[in-house]
Amino acid sequence: MKIYVGEDYKEMSRKAANIMSAQIILKPDSVIGLATGSTPIGIYDQLVKWYEKGDLDFSNVVSINLDEYKGLSGDNDQSYRYFMNKHLFDRINIDKNKTYVPDGLEQDSYKACQQYNNIIEKSGGIDMQLLGLGHNGHIGFNEPGEAFEKETHCVNLTKSTIEANKRFFEREEDVPKQAYTMGIKSIMQAKKILIVVSGKGKADIVKKAFFGPVTPEVPASVLQLHNDVTLVGDRDALCEI
Ligand code: GLP
Repeated sequence: MKIYVGEDYKEMSRKAANIMSAQIILKPDSVIGLATGSTPIGIYDQLVKWYEKGDLDFSNVVSINLDEYKGLSGDNDQSYRYFMNKHLFDRINIDKNKTYVPDGLEQDSYKACQQYNNIIEKSGGIDMQLLGLGHNGHIGFNEPGEAFEKETHCVNLTKSTIEANKRFFEREEDVPKQAYTMGIKSIMQAKKILIVVSGKGKADIVKKAFFGPVTPEVPASVLQLHNDVTLVGDRDALCEI
């Protein structure tokens, strides 16, 4: 695993954005796995700046997002589709028809997950997967459990995830209790993984995930078995390693 440290959030974001742009410049039709959460926002802002300067072209890029809340439509401002449009897709020249997010409005979980698995398969495989890290070690919405879930599935969000995400909603009751997420197998099949972490609050879980035992109790620990992982963090998040 390669580890890059940024002094602060801004520098961490710039370093990670550099790695993503290198991927897009070297392979303009890259399939990029994208993530939501507060950590990647700085990366998206940086990519937009380089796009505006004429240094990046997204016209041939395909994006496949990790997850979506079950029950939220794309125009709900808490949905991940909305987040992606706002922070990235509406600001660059990506073809929206080639940006994929699980269909939160599909009530039939089996159908929603099968559809998404087909999209991933048809894309020919993810070239680079961007990941954030949940406080309990989740990646996408793969929550701690007894086994690593393979493909796209519907998850019941844990109390701690609902707690962590409630800051984005008006009331805690509004936080969806379920989500569709890419599975560990789909994530592990990405050719390259770029995982980003920021802030003291992530320091403990960073240590557990990357230097502790590989266990479904800490879903991100499985990344220790991937042969091309780059971890980019700010000094606070990496202070325990
Ligand atoms: C959510 C997302 C994850 C993300 C995590 C961490 O639960 N589903 O993909 O990595 O939050 O978010 P943050 O970057 O805000 O700490």
